[in-house]
Amino acid sequence: MYKDIVDFIKYIYPNQNPVPLHAPVFLGKEKEYLSDCIDTTYVSYIGKYVTQFEQKTAEFSGAKYAVAVVNGTAALQIALKLAGVNYGDEVITQPLTFVATANAIAHCGAKPVFVDVDPDTMGMSPEKLNDWLVNNTNYNQSTRQAINKSTNQPISAIVPMHTFGHPCRIDEIVEIANRFNIPVIEDAAESLGSYFRNKHTGTFGLAGILSYNGNKTITTGGGGMIITDNEEFARKAKHLTTTAKVPHKWEFIHDEIAYNYRLTNVNAAIGVAQMECIDILLKNKRETADLYRDFCHNNGIVFFKEPLNSSSNYWLNTIRLKDRKERDTYLSYTNDNGVITRPVWRLMNKLEMYKDCQTGNLDNSLMLEATLVNLPSGFRN
Ligand SMILES: Cc1ncc(COP(=O)(O)O)c(C=O)c1O
Repeated sequence: MYKDIVDFIKYIYPNQNPVPLHAPVFLGKEKEYLSDCIDTTYVSYIGKYVTQFEQKTAEFSGAKYAVAVVNGTAALQIALKLAGVNYGDEVITQPLTFVATANAIAHCGAKPVFVDVDPDTMGMSPEKLNDWLVNNTNYNQSTRQAINKSTNQPISAIVPMHTFGHPCRIDEIVEIANRFNIPVIEDAAESLGSYFRNKHTGTFGLAGILSYNGNKTITTGGGGMIITDNEEFARKAKHLTTTAKVPHKWEFIHDEIAYNYRLTNVNAAIGVAQMECIDILLKNKRETADLYRDFCHNNGIVFFKEPLNSSSNYWLNTIRLKDRKERDTYLSYTNDNGVITRPVWRLMNKLEMYKDCQTGNLDNSLMLEATLVNLPSGFRN
């Protein structure tokens, strides 16, 4: 079975040795727009591409507003801050995620609480979220906050993540969060082009964030975006990520302690060119997923299909093996034979800095951590 899948991957990705997990691809006007930045000298924070990139992202995602920032981690930190996450608060997220999700919470001075994921979406489980909130919080009627019974701290946000581009059951999560009056910030870093019930991921909660890191569906080299339908939230996000400068022809007046988190015109120029090719990129990814699905079906391998009611971007194609031993044998065979594969992240609650955080029952996350493998999923020529 191991040799068959290696041969198959080399067949669908010919002339690449080793076959990378997900390499960037530049099919459009990236060079032209970059030259324009240099020719006009607009390489830094001023220039037309940032606004164009924001407009294209809003249009594509259906969000009313999009604010470009330096990376996805910063986008999440600012979105959480604007959602009202304060020093000492607690924020619920999933343990099966990239470390940036938990780090952004910690950057706000808050502590993550980890609740389990669903085995079929790999994203936060609405049932487990509800159970945790019901069993571990009291609702304070006067402050309208869910308070953690054991720490006495407020739960000030919930951050579900759309793992490997597969939408989680976000409508149920938002409904539960609303009952407890907790804002939802979606970590949609991996799910540009993924939809739940025909609505783009990242647009269900108060705000969502996207990442344009080099391994994502589209890249700006490094970059991120905050998307929201809330005008005031978007205005504040722009202000807070641009050193809170009060607009004036020549005076330097800043009205709060803020951040220099803006995206440069150079990065945004790449982003505009990439967005112009997004349909081609997504179509190619879906065709790759179809090839993997058929191969896995014919070879008795469990392949992760897009969940119910969803259209996934299939950012990273994923298979599930029998157990950790089989996973490790598989990882070692493929990586030794010219095909880059990787396991899922070590669970957040097992990392040194988050090992004392509160968790719910994490059975599904533990099972997935031990058995998932990502397959090469970049653009196929
Ligand atoms: C789930 C998740 N959250 C957040 C991030 C952070 O994005 P960035 O690398 O742009 O800071 C990433 C990706 O890198 C991610 O996969």
